[in-house]
Amino acid sequence: MGCFRCSGKSNKKLDEEIDNKNKNLNKQADKKQLIADTPRVDSNANLKKEEVSNDGQLSMDVKNLNLKDDSNNSGKSAKPFTFDELAAATGNFRSDCCLGEGGFGKVYKGCLEKIEQVVAIKQLDHRGVQGVREFSAEVMTLGSADHPNLVKLIGYCAEGDQRLLVYEYMPLGSLDKHLHDLRPDTRPLDWNTRMKIAAGASRGLQYLHEQLKQPVIYRDLKCSNILLEEGYHPKLSDFGLAKMGPSGDKTHVSTRVMGTYGYCAPDYAMTGQLTFKSDIYSFGVVLLELITGRKAIDQTKDRKELNLVAWLLRK
Ligand SMILES: Nc1ncnc2c1ncn2[C@@H]1O[C@H](COP(=O)(O)OP(=O)(O)O)[C@@H](O)[C@H]1O
Ligand SMILES: [Mg+2]
Repeated sequence: MGCFRCSGKSNKKLDEEIDNKNKNLNKQADKKQLIADTPRVDSNANLKKEEVSNDGQLSMDVKNLNLKDDSNNSGKSAKPFTFDELAAATGNFRSDCCLGEGGFGKVYKGCLEKIEQVVAIKQLDHRGVQGVREFSAEVMTLGSADHPNLVKLIGYCAEGDQRLLVYEYMPLGSLDKHLHDLRPDTRPLDWNTRMKIAAGASRGLQYLHEQLKQPVIYRDLKCSNILLEEGYHPKLSDFGLAKMGPSGDKTHVSTRVMGTYGYCAPDYAMTGQLTFKSDIYSFGVVLLELITGRKAIDQTKDRKELNLVAWLLRK
């Protein structure tokens, strides 16, 4: 298979597009921080754990994850890559290879010659402890998962303080790009496709909640985390905020409030008590976006219509 090159042809136009995209995404990222920086409860043990220093966390994550060089294994597990391999795959992280930017770093399209595959590479912001934590959560959750509605983690890089994640590339991008602020060349999704996406996303969520050996709460279900393959086949992505579900008789885990404004369940936001139902609330918001075509939070609308759920509850 011939690998693509990040073309330099219409760089200016592409850069403008990416700039606009990034502005929007940065807005979203700010909102993610907004919740993240507002712990409403003292979540004791978890909070303490989250206060580990960056350096401490860096050595801890690699040790805890037991990341071994199993590049000779033909199994499904994520494979280690060197930083140089990932830099080469993305033309040294060129701006025209950038697919978007989230709360924890930029995502680049690349081609890994070694495995002859087009991939998406997320370079986590290594200045913050959160990026390191996101890396651990992602590798732990996706490393043991295998489902047609979850994006596949192909590999990772944990060299020095660099943390990168390598995913299968999803050619149709994220659901939000097909629902909101459509580019002139994008057709609105038809009803059947919307329902197919909702059904696929719910299957991915059910797998996380009920089928994994150690069930996890996703905590970040939103349209930009539902990625689409050819044929609009949906896959959940971005497990950096995922938390192990409660054990034994417990119904919740107490944790610092994190997530994305507009999707975060109000009871979790107020108490810090995270349950499987917190994800179901976020799924409901996604469903409302699919049905109404409106954004979960629309800054261009006046106060009454700004929050989709609040607006619909008033109707
Ligand atoms: N595997 C992938 N394939 C294609 N595009 C991707 C992939 N992963 C992420 N992206 C794109 O990169 C953007 C940024 O992703 P991410 O860092 O997860 O932040 P967020 O989910 O907050 O937007 C996404 O909105 C999506 O458009
Ligand atoms: Mg994402």
